[in-house]
Amino acid sequence: FSEFLTDTFDRQHDYLRISITERCNLRCLYCMPAEGVPLSPKQHLLTHHEVLYLSSLFVSQGVTKIRLTGGEPTIHPQIMPMLRDIGALRSKGLKELALTTNGLTLPRKIDDMVKAGVTGINLSLDTLDPFQFEIMTRRKGFDQVMKSIDKILELRRLSVPIKLKVNVVVIRGLNDHQILPFIDMTKEKDLEIRFIEYMPFDGNKWSNKKMLGYQEMLAIIRERYPSLVKVQDHPNDTSKTFQVPGFVGRIGFITSMTDHFCGTCNRLRITSDGNLKVCLFGNTEVSLRDMMRESFNKGQPIDEAAWDALRQIEMDRHEGRTSGDLGMKEKELELLNIIGL
Ligand code: GTP
Ligand code: 5AD
Ligand code: SF4
Repeated sequence: FSEFLTDTFDRQHDYLRISITERCNLRCLYCMPAEGVPLSPKQHLLTHHEVLYLSSLFVSQGVTKIRLTGGEPTIHPQIMPMLRDIGALRSKGLKELALTTNGLTLPRKIDDMVKAGVTGINLSLDTLDPFQFEIMTRRKGFDQVMKSIDKILELRRLSVPIKLKVNVVVIRGLNDHQILPFIDMTKEKDLEIRFIEYMPFDGNKWSNKKMLGYQEMLAIIRERYPSLVKVQDHPNDTSKTFQVPGFVGRIGFITSMTDHFCGTCNRLRITSDGNLKVCLFGNTEVSLRDMMRESFNKGQPIDEAAWDALRQIEMDRHEGRTSGDLGMKEKELELLNIIGL
């Protein structure tokens, strides 16, 4: 395993998330304003070739899982060739290729995605009520998303190795009444429903009152299903997993707000404009795009100087901290900033 990708706490960063676009075909209330987010000029964004180059570089350094995110990754004009090219890195050590998507375009694309090597879909869906879907996303598309779920489950029934998780961001007073309907979905469907604590991002009108902590969600579920049991989590999972005995599916909680999981986080992130970030809440970024473009111009691969810079941001993250509070300093600062304190 490469020295750079192993940090001073011996966490091996073998999971890379790449955002390939800022664009989205939905406008979820908690994520974007109605007019969308300001978009970067095209030349600032990573090209298909650059995404592939970086994927291949990180796989050569020990990354075994790549997740494409957005915005909405499936609306990138080159999503299919990109998946095929990244999927081909299986021969170089890549084991999982996943997407985080709102599922709108999946019914048309999922078969080809599986052929390209996609092994996991995390689908964002915050309500099972079609009218509320339209309010929360400011767009139509509920039927398409449900169709995506059915298609993926159908593939699983045919023994295609593709995992399905459904991400539900829970906001008090808005969709908290949907917790139990989502639990009921796990009765017969072989998927994992993950309830996510609502997090503050720039301009999303977050407030502590709207955030439902995981203990409170658990209490709501236990009232109906007192026999709910804890299931073993995978070592680097960001979620805590449970199951109603006898139900096929599972239930997870992403507790970013009330119980952070920085100590076991193994994720590296590349933004759509090519910055590497080691922490979702951190401000330390380094432009892989600029390093890559400079080295292409010189006709050389990314050289030692670039790897040195990368090692440096790893060091910055962990300087003077214990594994228990990894990432917390950045996280706290960012939260205070956003809340305006
Ligand atoms: P898998 O574990 O591979 O299934 O994916 P994931 O849960 O890391 O990714 P996904 O894109 O489905 O994101 C789910 C939620 O986790 C989102 O709300 C993310 O913002 C959040 N998330 C992902 N990584 C981190 C992290 O390192 N820290 C925090 N606080 N939240 C994260
Ligand atoms: N808080 C929690 N989760 C969020 N997501 C987007 N914005 C927020 C937020 N403010 C979720 C999406 C998607 C995942 C990548 O992040 O619903 O499932
Ligand atoms: Fe944001 Fe995802 Fe909703 Fe698009 S689908 S608006 S990226 S949360």
